Formats: sequence, structure tokens, C-alpha cells
Amino acid sequence: MASFERISVKSLTKSFENSSGGKVTIFENVSFELGKGGILRLSGASGSGKTTFMNVMSGLIKPDSGSIFFGNIDITNLSEGKKDRFRAENIGYIFQTFNLLSPFSVLENVYAPLAFAGKLPENYKDKALDLLDKVGMKEFSAKMPYHLSVGQKQRVAVARVLFADPPLVFADEPTASLDRNSSELVKNTLLELNKKGTTLVLTSHDSIFDDIKPDIDFNLETGVLS
Ligand SMILES: Nc1ncnc2c1ncn2[C@@H]1O[C@H](COP(=O)(O)OP(=O)(O)OP(=O)(O)O)[C@@H](O)[C@H]1O
Ligand SMILES: [Mg+2]
Repeated sequence: MASFERISVKSLTKSFENSSGGKVTIFENVSFELGKGGILRLSGASGSGKTTFMNVMSGLIKPDSGSIFFGNIDITNLSEGKKDRFRAENIGYIFQTFNLLSPFSVLENVYAPLAFAGKLPENYKDKALDLLDKVGMKEFSAKMPYHLSVGQKQRVAVARVLFADPPLVFADEPTASLDRNSSELVKNTLLELNKKGTTLVLTSHDSIFDDIKPDIDFNLETGVLS
């Protein structure tokens, strides 16, 4: 699938039902354009909707209304199969938890997204091992995710993003509960990718990210885009 120069979010609205059957609007009529290599920061208190916004923007969950165009592809209109493939080829994820696929080894996790997309390059195992080496995880390549600490899982997720080199990366609290060194590694990797043109969507309460200059700041608590 062709790469995209611009993401256009149009009139995006998402609500959930609460336990008493009422409707809770998480965000409403959100529209913006994010160019290639841009940074979108999502801010706001815990529970304000940052993760929900990422899940909707990346096609993981459906909005109530509105669309998300990657170039001229509206991800909300793709069939599930096409959407999964689009995500595998175009989007990388570094989350606080649930980073890795538990039935697969560390090495398999690094190349899994491209394997699912049927796009494995030649020598993919060597490439994956090189990237595990870069994040200090080569000796763990045959281990299963449940053998790893949170910080180690995080580093494998970084290697996986580097392997796929996707045009868009979502990072949801990527340094929460990490030590300084692992946090620096995650931050520097994200900034290096961004410098090379990777578009970044980030949430973080970590002051390590305070010096980042987002193109768009979306505060889910106030609903204000700036
Ligand atoms: N599937 C769901 N069904 C119902 N309510 C949900 C669902 N997912 C999230 N919510 C609610 O939506 C609100 C926003 O949750 P979300 O996880 O997006 O917040 P957040 O800003 O990422 O918080 P945090 O900073 O703690 O990660 C919360 O009140 C949450 O309980
Ligand atoms: Mg969250």
C-alpha cells in the first residue's frame, strides 16, 4: 500500500456507554491535519481519553462518527482484513504494557508485523538480531515475553519498530516505569526516527519528553487543540 504524506482527522467523535447505560463522550468533532514527520502530543489527566484517541486514530477501535485519512485512504472504511494489513505495514507501537505477542519468542516478535503483512525482507533473522543487539537484548532472542522485565519488553518493542521502520509510530506512555537508561533509549529512538521523517503520536507524563516540540497538542481533558 502506498505511503502517505498527511494524516487528516475529520470530525472524529467517540463515546462509551457507562455502567448505568448512559453515554460518556470522550472526544467530539475533532479535526486536524498532521503532515509527514509531524508530532502529535496527546495530553490530559488519567482517564481523559488519550489511549482511546490513539486506539481510534490507529484503527484499533471504531469511532462513533468521523474519519481518519492516511493520504487518501480512510481507515474507518477499510475491511477488517485490509485494515489489519494497513496497520501492520504502516504503524508501529510502543506502549507501556501489552507490547509483545506472548506466544512468540523475542526474535519472532521483532519481525512479526512484517511477517503478518507478508513483507519479510531477506536475511530477516540477522536484521532482527542486529536490532536486538542495538537495544541490548540479543542474548534474550530465544526467550518468551513472560521471561522479560517491563523494561526489557519495552526494548524489544523498540527493536520491532526499528525493524519495520513504519511511517507512523504510536507511543503511549512509552517510558512509564522504566529506568533512566531505558527511558533515554526509547526517547532517543523515537526522536531519531522522527528526524528521518517518521510521524509520531505520543502520550507521556515523563518529564524526559518535556523538551519535545509537538506540531499539535491535543488536550483530551479540555478538548483544546493547539
Ligand atoms: N471499552 C471501554 N468501554 C467503556 N469505557 C471505556 C472503555 N475504554 C475506556 N473507557 C473509559 O474512557 C475513559 C478514557 O480512558 P483512556 O484509557 O482513554 O484514558 P487515558 O487518558 O489514556 O488515561 P491514562 O492516562 O490513565 O492512561 C475512561 O473513563 C475509561 O474508563
Ligand atoms: Mg492511557
